[in-house]
Amino acid sequence: MLNQESNITPRQIALTAALILSFPESLLVIWASGKWALGLLSFTAIFTISYFVINALLEQFINRKIKLIYKFIHKTKTTKREENYYKYILPPKTLEEVSKDVEDWAIENEKEMELLRQNEQFRKEFLQNLSHEFKTPIFSIQGYIETLLDGALDDPKVNKKYLENARRNIERLSNLLSDLEQIAKLERGELPLIKQSFIIQDLVKEVFEMTESAAENNTIHCSIKKECENPLSVYADKEKIRQVLSNLIENARKYGKQNGSITASMYKTDGKHILIEITDDGIGIAEKDISRIFERFYRTETGRSRDITGSGLGLAICKHIIEAHGETIHARSTEQVGTTIGFTLPIS
Ligand SMILES: Nc1ncnc2c1ncn2[C@@H]1O[C@H](COP(=O)(O)OP(=O)(O)O)[C@@H](O)[C@H]1O
Ligand SMILES: [Mg+2]
Repeated sequence: MLNQESNITPRQIALTAALILSFPESLLVIWASGKWALGLLSFTAIFTISYFVINALLEQFINRKIKLIYKFIHKTKTTKREENYYKYILPPKTLEEVSKDVEDWAIENEKEMELLRQNEQFRKEFLQNLSHEFKTPIFSIQGYIETLLDGALDDPKVNKKYLENARRNIERLSNLLSDLEQIAKLERGELPLIKQSFIIQDLVKEVFEMTESAAENNTIHCSIKKECENPLSVYADKEKIRQVLSNLIENARKYGKQNGSITASMYKTDGKHILIEITDDGIGIAEKDISRIFERFYRTETGRSRDITGSGLGLAICKHIIEAHGETIHARSTEQVGTTIGFTLPIS
């Protein structure tokens, strides 16, 4: 921060000031007395005295200011002992050292501020998303109920449909609430991992069966890839991994195509990890959205229009669970071709 060339030391200042004082004064002596020797003597005397006095005063002044700066950067509230330390014992530092300390302090401070700003931004966005996610279903429920009360209730052509729409929006609210609760619990660390060894293929099959029976239009074919049928044992929290798999398979179904297929595959990667992938041949995700789908509330436009009951929290929860295991989750996708979401788990 400090420019080296303009960085004059107290000694240089004292020297210049002493010269300015002693030179004209000795000229005056020579002019008055006519003696060169007397002039030289008075020059030497005044120069020496003023140099040392000015230098000492300057250093004292600067040190007092520096101590003030240190007191400030080491937080204003100090104990008596620290105060004495900064007042009397603090080793005299050069201006360069002080400038470096202040710079470090400023950088550290800037980092802290940046983190606070980010948290603040994050909090604002979160609240905004949250109110938006609540507002949409509540307003539509309100709309349907008002229309029904205004007479649609007696119209057999629409009454059931409006009630059904209201029910779907209530389902959306309830999904949103349970996902929010889940994510809050995960973040507070209230859901510790209960790890055990289990065969990943068995769990995938269970989830396939469960989502198949829950799906209304059961036209998507679910299977485990042929060459991945050899049982692989992982060591993880089975119930939480079940939740991850249901989220992924549910997504593959929701964003899949009619008569499409969902394939699960699992591979040993490096002797320590197993990679599990869920692949669909559905609508896919645009390049620009891929990096964001794990964010809370993030849903693509096409995703939103496909399914109104989603909360956009499913993948955020998956990421949370997988990262709590110390593992990673990622997505690959091509629009209109399909999507693969993969995550790793430790081998048992
Ligand atoms: N298999 C998939 N195919 C296409 N898009 C997907 C797939 N999985 C997730 N997405 C996109 O990522 C978004 C976030 O997913 P998720 O967090 O599970 O929320 P939700 O399922 O509630 O929409 C979805 O809204 C969708 O846009
Ligand atoms: Mg989902």
